[in-house]
Amino acid sequence: MGKIILSGYMGSGKSSVAKRLQEKMGLSLHDLDQTIETSTQHSIAELFAQKGEIYFRKLEHEILKELLRQPQPFILSLGGGTPCYANNHELLQANGIHWVYLKASPETLLDRIANDKTERPLLSGKKHSELKDFIAQHLFERSSFYNLAPYKVSTDGKTPDEIANE
Ligand code: S3P
Repeated sequence: MGKIILSGYMGSGKSSVAKRLQEKMGLSLHDLDQTIETSTQHSIAELFAQKGEIYFRKLEHEILKELLRQPQPFILSLGGGTPCYANNHELLQANGIHWVYLKASPETLLDRIANDKTERPLLSGKKHSELKDFIAQHLFERSSFYNLAPYKVSTDGKTPDEIANE
């Protein structure tokens, strides 16, 4: 069965799809951001504000490596930036890992982000009117990493359940 790892931009549905997959497949579920929060006892927003993004990226890399060392199969949802830093994209291409990219258009991402209360330090302070251009640009910059995933699922117009089934 191996490990199923969900990646994608903020708002792509990683956490909701991971929960549906857990229900359907009965595997254990990990969320990288939550694991970071539990192990540091700080929220992602606090880590960005107090220690900065580079500190966060190093921690994200170390905790990803630690999670991947587990021999049992599991479902893992990454943070939006995870495949784009350090050699994380190489770690995700190892044997026994099914790396999935949940694709969504900037319009869909903006919609989902606007309807979600998760604190996102990279987007905070941006006006709604600026957000779509920012997301489109940022997604473009990150796409070459996301596209390394061997499994790609288009998520526009689909529910988490439909995406999990696919
Ligand atoms: C980030 C996405 C966030 C979180 C952090 C940085 C990013 O996760 O890891 O705020 O760089 O895209 P979500 O994609 O779950 O919001």
